[in-house]
Amino acid sequence: MRVSGEVVVVTGAASGIGRASARLFGREGARLVLGDLDEAAGQQLAAEIGADDAGAAMFVRTDVTSGSDVKRLVDAAVERHGRLDGIFNNAGISLVGSLLDATEDDFDRVVAVNLKGVYLGCKHALPHLLANPSGGAILNMSSNGGLIGRPGDPLYNATKHGVMGLTKSLALAYADQRVRVNAVCPGPIDTPMVWGGLEAGGDRDAYARRVVASCPTPRLASPEEVARAALFLISDEASFITGVGLAVDGGKAAGVFKPERYRTDFDLL
Ligand SMILES: NC(=O)c1ccc[n+]([C@@H]2O[C@H](COP(=O)([O-])OP(=O)(O)OC[C@H]3O[C@@H](n4cnc5c(N)ncnc54)[C@H](O)[C@@H]3O)[C@@H](O)[C@H]2O)c1
Repeated sequence: MRVSGEVVVVTGAASGIGRASARLFGREGARLVLGDLDEAAGQQLAAEIGADDAGAAMFVRTDVTSGSDVKRLVDAAVERHGRLDGIFNNAGISLVGSLLDATEDDFDRVVAVNLKGVYLGCKHALPHLLANPSGGAILNMSSNGGLIGRPGDPLYNATKHGVMGLTKSLALAYADQRVRVNAVCPGPIDTPMVWGGLEAGGDRDAYARRVVASCPTPRLASPEEVARAALFLISDEASFITGVGLAVDGGKAAGVFKPERYRTDFDLL
C-alpha cells in the first residue's frame, strides 16, 4: 500500500476529484480526515471508506473560506492520529464567463474558495507538517487554467494561477525542512462541477463536445485519473518532487492542435 497509515486531510472530499482521491487514498491505507460543505455526502463517504477500504476516515463539516473551520479540520486529524502527513487542498468552484459579466461578489466568492481556501489549508497544515520528523506533503488543486491563459473563465483562471504561485513559493520556502508542496492541474474531468454548466434539458453530447473542444485528447477524463496523480504526488513515491504543477489534462497545456483540429471558418482581421 502506497500511503499505509499516513494521516491525510482532503478538502472538497464529498464529490468529484476529492471523492475519488479519498477513496483511492483509503484503499492505499491512509487514515483520512475529510472536509466539505456537504455534510450528508461527506459522512456517507467516510462510512464507506471505513467499511470497504484499508484505511479509515472521519468527516468534519468544513467551509474552506473560514479560517476557524479549516483549523478545526486539520486539528481534528492531529488530535485523532497524533500527527499529520499530508493535505490535499482540493475544494474549488467554477466561474465561467467574461470579466465584464462577472460581479465583484463573483470575484470575491471564487477567490475565497479557490485561493483563500488553499492558503488556509497550507497555513493550518504547515506547522504540523514541519513538526513531523518524517516531513510531509501539501498538494494543492490548481487546473489547466493554472498553467495557461484561457479566455472563457478569467477569474477562475486567475485563482488557479494564484494557486501555482503559492505552491511554488511554499515549495522553495520549506524544501529544506522536508515539506514538499505540489499542485495538480487537471483538464476536463467528468465531475458535477463540469456538468453544472449544462442548462436544464440541454444536449449532453453537444455540451461535452464544447467542454473538450480545447483538449487535444478529445474526451472527459474520470476523476479517478486525477486521483492517481494526486496519490503519487502526496505519497513518498514523489519524494524528490516539489514545486511542480502536474498536468493531468490530455495534453491541453502542451501546445497547439494538429491543423485538422482547428476551425478555419473564422473572420480574418
Ligand atoms: N472537473 C474539472 O474539469 C476540473 C478541472 C480542473 C480543476 N478542477 C478543480 O478540482 C477541484 C474539485 O473539483 P470537482 O470537479 O471535483 O468538483 P465537484 O463540484 O464535483 O466537487 C467540489 C467539492 O468541493 C466542495 N466545496 C465547494 N465549496 C466549498 C467550500 N467553500 N468549502 C468546502 N468544500 C467546498 C463541494 O461541496 C464539492 O463536494 C476544484 O478545485 C476544481 O477547480 C476541476
